[in-house]
Amino acid sequence: MAVIEETFVASDRPGESSGEEKLSRFNTSIPHPARVYDVWLGGKDNFAADRAAAEAGLKAFPSTVKSVRANRAFLARTVEYLVEEAGIRQFLDIGTGLPSANNTHEVAQAIAPESRIAYVDNDPIVLAHAEALLRSTDSGATDYIDADLREPGKILQEASRTLDFSRPVAVMLIAVLHFVPDEADPYGIAETLMAAVPPGSHLVVSHTAKDIFPEEMAAFARAMNKDSAEKVTLRDREQVSGFFNGLDLIEPGVVQVPRWRPRSELEASAPAALWGGMARKPA
Ligand SMILES: C[S@@+](CC[C@H](N)C(=O)[O-])C[C@H]1O[C@@H](n2cnc3c(N)ncnc32)[C@H](O)[C@@H]1O
Repeated sequence: MAVIEETFVASDRPGESSGEEKLSRFNTSIPHPARVYDVWLGGKDNFAADRAAAEAGLKAFPSTVKSVRANRAFLARTVEYLVEEAGIRQFLDIGTGLPSANNTHEVAQAIAPESRIAYVDNDPIVLAHAEALLRSTDSGATDYIDADLREPGKILQEASRTLDFSRPVAVMLIAVLHFVPDEADPYGIAETLMAAVPPGSHLVVSHTAKDIFPEEMAAFARAMNKDSAEKVTLRDREQVSGFFNGLDLIEPGVVQVPRWRPRSELEASAPAALWGGMARKPA
């Protein structure tokens, strides 16, 4: 804990909340989504409460690890598509998670080193590890914004440090919208973000499913929501498709994440309980 406290104070930047405020948000006794996800991905940045929640999730839905790996693979394939096929060079990645293999900037800059990425997460431990996300190529740029998806105005304002909103941007909402309950208007938030970017911009969403392995997923959501700081709302395919209203869906539409342009049949067959899709903002 002492090491973490030092990191927070050291990571303060002018104009941001004080180290003391950040510490008050940092509670290791309740599970946090970024750290629980880190357990499933085999990471080390988690605590006993996160490991207990991860175990409970696995008990409810035994394919959880395969499912989260399939989600990471979806993230990498969508970024590759955006850079190679859609010519995108700017990314707004909200709900980034702890640094892992194949982070958005690594995938994008490996193909187009000039790519610019603004990362956003509301978890103080992700902030503490943001340095790893800030190792950009010289010709590109990365930035980290400590903010909540429910504050899209703040996100857009701070992202303008790194991104040029007169040019297309890929808005990445990967495995994060299920932490926004209906009463916080997740559809309105997605609309606000897409209203701020020009035609040719893209929206990418993956979202924990209500109607894939429905019984296991209902038990999974109950297990996750028992003590967690952020509650999960499962949504079905039609509800996830609603995030793309007014946009042009890219083939194959909203599908189980491993079925979105898989590289092999093996990859396509992963038992993932997330819907995923991508759409382009029309002129
Ligand atoms: C399941 S992880 C997904 C990480 C990464 N996008 C991926 O798919 O591999 C969800 C992340 O979203 C973050 N998160 C949850 N609710 C959020 C919110 N309201 N605003 C910003 N970030 C949020 C969590 O802290 C966590 O890092």
